[in-house]
Amino acid sequence: MKQRILTGIKPTGYPHIGNYFGAIKPAIEFSKNLDYDSFYFIADYHALTTVTTKDLLQEYTKNVACTWLACGLDPKNVVFYKQSDIPEVFELNWILNNVAPKGLLNRAHAYKARVEANEKLNVEADDGVNMGLFNYPILMSADILLFGTDIVPVGLDQKQHVEIARDIARSFNNRYGQIFVEPKEFIPQEVATLVGLDGRKMSKSYGNTIQLFSTEKALQKSVNQIVTDCRLPGEAKDKDCTINLLYKLFVDKNKATAFEQSLIEGLGWGEAKKQLFTVMNEYIAPMREKYNYYFSHYDEVKDILNDGQQKARKVAHEYLEKVRESIGSGKLNY
Ligand code: ADP
Ligand code: TRP
Repeated sequence: MKQRILTGIKPTGYPHIGNYFGAIKPAIEFSKNLDYDSFYFIADYHALTTVTTKDLLQEYTKNVACTWLACGLDPKNVVFYKQSDIPEVFELNWILNNVAPKGLLNRAHAYKARVEANEKLNVEADDGVNMGLFNYPILMSADILLFGTDIVPVGLDQKQHVEIARDIARSFNNRYGQIFVEPKEFIPQEVATLVGLDGRKMSKSYGNTIQLFSTEKALQKSVNQIVTDCRLPGEAKDKDCTINLLYKLFVDKNKATAFEQSLIEGLGWGEAKKQLFTVMNEYIAPMREKYNYYFSHYDEVKDILNDGQQKARKVAHEYLEKVRESIGSGKLNY
């Protein structure tokens, strides 16, 4: 039997080029390996911890769905669905709540960081914490365990969540018998952390991103906003400057070397930005065209997600049935 890989993508904003090179591109490459059975989904109920209006949740969900398809996710090779379309996940979520020790969740990074920040501010430890944030790792465990997942490709920040899923699977199996697969995280080592407009890690939370799909004009504007030092044309530039680091991602080795050389030889920032914009735009344009297509034919995307929902629910239903039988709540009658 093929190994199953599964990963979730949170619709919490407009995808940026850090997300593309750090998560989207490697995950799509992974899904092309037909030795694996791939499940990729939009974790819209996980986004509820930060996205708090109907319009934004819909907007980001649409954006993320169109982005993945535009970047090359092939629904023929990947079961692609929306978390909220799989009610079995939420039933399992409740069941798992009852095998998850509270102490385990007290130690989860996101919650712990909030408590520590509150303690520093001298306010109550749980100030501003809702149960969605606290239980986040249990819902993620349900996403993973419900499909008998073997491998979960994620960024380093999600490693602990997969460990929690593994702990919960083990506790459940100890209590009720061998039902769940113990999942393992897969963290691509070679994925670089992209820098943003201000030289820090590119992140929505720093407001320093270059959106993957905007208009050509907006892309140009973002490139122009990249912070540079005050070296004049003719002066040698640092090869670790943001412009050079970004340029490399969009071209082959020879072009990257030539560009770096021209920076060392004193290429002016204005010209360097123009060249960066050109290569970025050439790289992104064909995907942007597909993105715009999906965005204006969203019914096709919904059909893909509906199809994914049916495939995913079939697997989920069978798994949940085993779980229900093992805990004594009987057979599902749908
Ligand atoms: P953000 O920091 O913008 O909120 P997310 O936390 O939603 O981004 O990240 C989604 C995925 O994109 C994660 O797998 C994360 O590792 C990856 N990612 C985010 N920012 C970067 C970056 N600057 N460089 C590389 N990968 C990134
Ligand atoms: N928590 C993940 C993130 O923030 C998204 C996610 C939700 C996920 N459920 C998952 C990832 C299951 C992998 C498997 O990026």
